[in-house]
Formats: sequence, structure tokens, C-alpha cells
Amino acid sequence: MKESVTYNGLTFVPYITAEQIKERVDAIARQIEEDCRGKQPLFVCVLNGAFPFASDLFRSVDMDAEITFLRLKSYDGMDSTGNVKRMMSLGEDIAGRTVIVIEDIIDTGRTMQKLIADLRELHPADIKIATLLHKPDALVVDDVKPDYVGFEIPKKFIIGYGLDLDGLARNLNDIYVIKENEQN
Ligand code: IMP
Ligand code: MG
Repeated sequence: MKESVTYNGLTFVPYITAEQIKERVDAIARQIEEDCRGKQPLFVCVLNGAFPFASDLFRSVDMDAEITFLRLKSYDGMDSTGNVKRMMSLGEDIAGRTVIVIEDIIDTGRTMQKLIADLRELHPADIKIATLLHKPDALVVDDVKPDYVGFEIPKKFIIGYGLDLDGLARNLNDIYVIKENEQN
């Protein structure tokens, strides 16, 4: 882990280590195995940010499961735009399936709210939400309740392990938080 990293002139400091992430990912995998026994769940990875989490979580579950991907975009720089765009649609038939949506982070909750509404129209048997990170103080919707949460964190901007600042920093193995006084 580096002492600090800089992107677009902003400095970020260590926040969550790769070891801590792995521990939570494996714990969530054990919960999913228990909750979805005999169900062959379909993991739906929300691109771009969730790909490292989805990859690690999917490989940690010891059960028959499938994975597919869809792409959404709502952030511009450090701000949630509130306008969620679907960039890529689901190819699979999810009717009657147990679907586990895999997200990197739930911030305002708007992305997840829109996605869940869209998925419901395809009549899955059940939709569960797994998010590595959750900022409960940033939630602006009241009907988004993740079933599996890696870490609850305060309303601070973070990067790494899939989370980006304008497309960069996704390849960091640890998570870094913006240095005090740099977030307006
Ligand atoms: P929401 O719709 O406000 O819940 O935003 C969800 C999306 O915003 C996530 O999937 C991330 O792509 C992005 N996001 C939210 N918070 C952060 C952050 O702290 N760092 C990087 N991306 C974030
Ligand atoms: Mg995202």
C-alpha cells in the first residue's frame, strides 16, 4: 500500500487494505452460499466499478452460480449526477431466477433504485443486493436496502479496487480516501 496517491491533482490516503477487503468478500460469499443453497443464483455485475468485487466474490462462492454484466453510468468526477444511464443491457433471461446484483458502492442509492425497478420488470424470483461499500448518510431514497454490505463508510470520496476518479485508480488493490480538506 502506498503512503498516498494523486489523481487529477487530488491526494488520497490509505483507507481499506486489500486484506480487509478479502476478509469481507469471503464472509459475504459464505452468507450467499447459505442463503442461496440449491438455487444456482445469477450474479449481475454492475460495470464498470464492480468488476474487481464481482470477480473476487464470484470466485469465492463454492456453489453452482452464473455471472453476467451490465453497464450503468451516473457519476461525473466526484458528483453523483442523479441521472442514471444504462449503457449495456442484460442478455440473459432472468425470469424465475435468484438474481444477486453486485455493486461497488451505494451512495445516493439512485443507481440501485433504478436498476432494481428495471430488473423487477423481468420477473426474477428474487433480487438480492451485494455492495462492497455503503454510505448510509448519503442515501436519498428509502427503498434501497442492500442484503450484503462489505463496509459502511462515511460520506467521503474514495477510490481503488474498481472505484474511480474520472476513469482512473480502478486498478489499485487497496482503497484510498480523499485527504481531509481536499473534498469540498
Ligand atoms: P449512487 O447512484 O449515488 O448510489 O451512486 C452509485 C455509483 O456512484 C457507484 O456505482 C459508483 O460508480 C459511484 N460512486 C459513489 N460514491 C463513489 C466514491 O466515493 N468513489 C467513486 N465512485 C463513487
Ligand atoms: Mg458503479
